[in-house]
Amino acid sequence: MRTHSLAARLLFVLPALATPAVALANDRAGVLPPGAADKHWRLAAVPMPRDNPGTPARIDLGKALFFDPRLSGNGATSCASCHNPSLGWADGLKKAAGVGGAVLGRATPTITNTGYNTQFMWDGRAKSLEDQALGPMKAADEMNTDFPAMLERLRSQAGYVKMFEMAYPGEGISEATLAKALAAFERTVTSRNSPFDRWLAGDSRAMTQAQWRGYKVFSDPARGNCATCHSAPNFTDNGFHNIGIASTGTADPGRYGIRKVASMRGAFKTPTLRDIELTAPYFHDGSAATLLDVVKHYERGGDDQSNLSADMKPLKLTEQDRTDLIAFLKALTGRPAKITAPELPR
Ligand code: HEC
Ligand code: HEC
Repeated sequence: MRTHSLAARLLFVLPALATPAVALANDRAGVLPPGAADKHWRLAAVPMPRDNPGTPARIDLGKALFFDPRLSGNGATSCASCHNPSLGWADGLKKAAGVGGAVLGRATPTITNTGYNTQFMWDGRAKSLEDQALGPMKAADEMNTDFPAMLERLRSQAGYVKMFEMAYPGEGISEATLAKALAAFERTVTSRNSPFDRWLAGDSRAMTQAQWRGYKVFSDPARGNCATCHSAPNFTDNGFHNIGIASTGTADPGRYGIRKVASMRGAFKTPTLRDIELTAPYFHDGSAATLLDVVKHYERGGDDQSNLSADMKPLKLTEQDRTDLIAFLKALTGRPAKITAPELPR
């Protein structure tokens, strides 16, 4: 190297640097900045209920509880057993595994961005995160918790007594404070810094051309028609639709189990799509293994046609549209916050 002049060394170095930079520029050139119509996808801060705003003490307490297997009947299952942060806050299974390994009826949804939603569970049977939180513990096949015994256990831990007092002064350790703390923690589990979010915030180089084209396929009612149900800002209309999953005709009534309206038979809640890359397999029964399987389901216009949503029509996508659409779904993956399991209070 010593024998090379500075200019020769620069020539030697420059092409090596220039090639990837040019490739990158080409890949992102042509991605237009977001317009006024795109701005409705931007996520604001998670809305807080007036009677349970998140405070650091509440969030810390809720996090400890979320990871604590002592909340379950057999002392071995925590919320995080199924909502595992390293699996996109889901479990990677087709259907959830409860205490003793029992296979439950539905897949575990992520809790990512659930704080933005107004409907909870696949069938919307919970009205708020506070309302939802005790359900899994009370279900015999999920956590099978003996509530009086569990609350006594928490009250006997000086660490928890102190944390509950800091979080909810004077309210004690009760079902209500337990539920509120869990909900306060869940509202901090968000995904809002994905390439798509960064593009929305004005970084027009955040998405590749393919991802940007995929966004157009996703939003266009005449092409993907996805945004009709996976609508802004959290990719859900908080509604229930029958999208013709093969098993729905017979196996699971979905929303109809809660609300006896004919159109709700086999209808399930529209899930968020942020971080969707992390939570395969897909659908309430885990029947789609990959995002390609999901897209092909929509291209076919669903399988079971018996009570299909009027918004489900077979799609005419080109090979390119399909690739771009999947690239866009992957542009919804945020940079994961570093989550370490908390030290459990004693
Ligand atoms: C055995 C696995 C399992 C455990 C343990 C578990 N969950 Fe779940 N969770 C599920 C499944 C399955 C569903 C969907 C059930 C349905 O819709 O019928 C769900 C749904 C949810 C939802 C609704 C998300 C949404 O956006 O609709 C929230 C929130 C949630 N769980 C929080 C918790 C909390 C808090 C705990 C601990 C107290 C917990 N879960 C324990 C499997 C589990
Ligand atoms: C008619 C409303 C509707 C339309 C249109 C729609 N979806 Fe869905 N989507 C849903 C519902 C409802 C579910 C959950 C269904 C179930 O599990 O039974 C779902 C589930 C999904 C899932 C799996 C999510 C998970 O966590 O398991 C993905 C991915 C998805 N949709 C992507 C898309 C794409 C891409 C399009 C466009 C090609 C699209 N959706 C069009 C309503 C819709």
